[in-house]
Amino acid sequence: MLTLAIETSCDETAAAVVSTTGDAQRPWRMLSNVIASQADIHREWGGVVPELASRQHVRDICGVVERALGDANVTLRDVDALAVTQGPGLVGSLLVGVAFAKSLAAALGKPIVGVHHLAGHIESIVLEHGEMPLPAVVLVVSGGHTSLYLVPEQGRYQLVGRTRDDAAGEAYDKVAKLLGLGYPGGPAIDRLAKQGDDRAVDLPRPRFTHPDRNPPPPDLVSGSLGATHMADFSFSGLKTAVVRLLEQRGVAVATGLTVPRDAGPMSEPEVADFCASFQRVVVESLVDRTFAAADALQARSVGIAGGVSANSRLRADAAARGEREGLPVLIPRISLSTDNAAMIAAAGLRKLVRGETSPLDFNAQASLVM
Ligand code: KG4
Ligand code: ZN
Repeated sequence: MLTLAIETSCDETAAAVVSTTGDAQRPWRMLSNVIASQADIHREWGGVVPELASRQHVRDICGVVERALGDANVTLRDVDALAVTQGPGLVGSLLVGVAFAKSLAAALGKPIVGVHHLAGHIESIVLEHGEMPLPAVVLVVSGGHTSLYLVPEQGRYQLVGRTRDDAAGEAYDKVAKLLGLGYPGGPAIDRLAKQGDDRAVDLPRPRFTHPDRNPPPPDLVSGSLGATHMADFSFSGLKTAVVRLLEQRGVAVATGLTVPRDAGPMSEPEVADFCASFQRVVVESLVDRTFAAADALQARSVGIAGGVSANSRLRADAAARGEREGLPVLIPRISLSTDNAAMIAAAGLRKLVRGETSPLDFNAQASLVM
C-alpha cells in the first residue's frame, strides 16, 4: 500500500510517500520526505505567528506535494490512500493540509485517514528502528507537547502523563528569549550548554507536593501513575526562576516574554552556565519521569520523539540510563524527530491496513484527544 501523507499542524509544510513492506518487523519504507520550513519567517517575530503560518502553508503545499511524489518517483495515480494530520495544532495551519488532502482524496476517489499528530511522533520511532519491544513507554517532547504514552500493542497509545503547564520546548524557547539567544531557542541553548557548568546556577526541580493543585486532566490513564503524578511534568516554575535570577543579576527582563532582548551585563560564560544549568534540570526531569513510568508499567523499551529529542544531552543521558537499566532506548534521527509527514504516513498506515478510514466530512481539530 502506497500512502501520500500531508502534515501542516504548525510551521512546517510537509509531504511524504511511504509504502508498506510486508516485513512485520520493519513495516514501512520511506520513499520521500519533503519539508518546507517557515522558521525564517517566524524568527523575525520571536515565535510562530499563526496567521502567517497558514498563509505560508497555502503558498507551499502544491510544490511540497509535487516534490514528494517526484522524489518517490510515483504519480498521484499510484497512490492507494491519503493520510493527513487532523490535530492537535494551529487550526488555521491544520485546515490547509486537511482541505488539500480531502480534495485530493475526493478527486482521485481514494480513501483518506485523519491522523493524531502525536501518534505520528510515536510512529517516527518505528519508521526509524522497526517495531519497538512492547509494552513501550514513549516520551513525546516538542515545542507544543510534553507527554508520556504507554504503547501496549502496535497502534495503541495510552496517555500516562503530561505537562501541567509549559511544554519542554516552549520552556527552551522562552528561556532562550530571556537570554537574548533568538528563536528557536532549543538548538542555541543546547550548543551553549556544552561550554557551561551545569551546577553553576541553582535552579529548582519541579515537585508535586500538592496533588490537588492543577490536577491532571481526566483523559489520563487512571491507576497508580495518575494518582501519584509521578509521570507529570512542569516547566513554568523553572522559567520563573530564571526570570528572578536574571533580575537579581541586574538584567532587565521584559515582562510577558514578548520582546527579544539582549542579555545585557551577563558575560558569555555566565550565559553558558545558565544554559547548562537549565538544560540539566529539564533533561533530568524528562529522563527521571520517563524511566519511572517505564519501571512502573514494566516497559520493555523506551522511545523519545519530537523536536526536543534532538537535544544532545537528552539523547546521551537517556541512552546512558537505558544502558544502566537494561532497557533499549529508541530515538529517531533528527529529521524524523522534528515535524515531518513520513511519521504521519506511518501512523496513517497503522489505521489503513486495519481498514480504518475517515469520512470526507472530517474536520481539522485544534485539540484532539487520542
Ligand atoms: O517537534 P517540533 O519540531 O515542533 C513542535 O511540534 O513543536 O519541536 C520544536 C521544538 C522547539 O521548541 C525547539 O526549541 C525544540 O523543539 N528543539 C530543541 C532542540 N532542537 C529543537 N530543544 C532542545 N534542544 C535541541 N537541540
Ligand atoms: Zn510535533
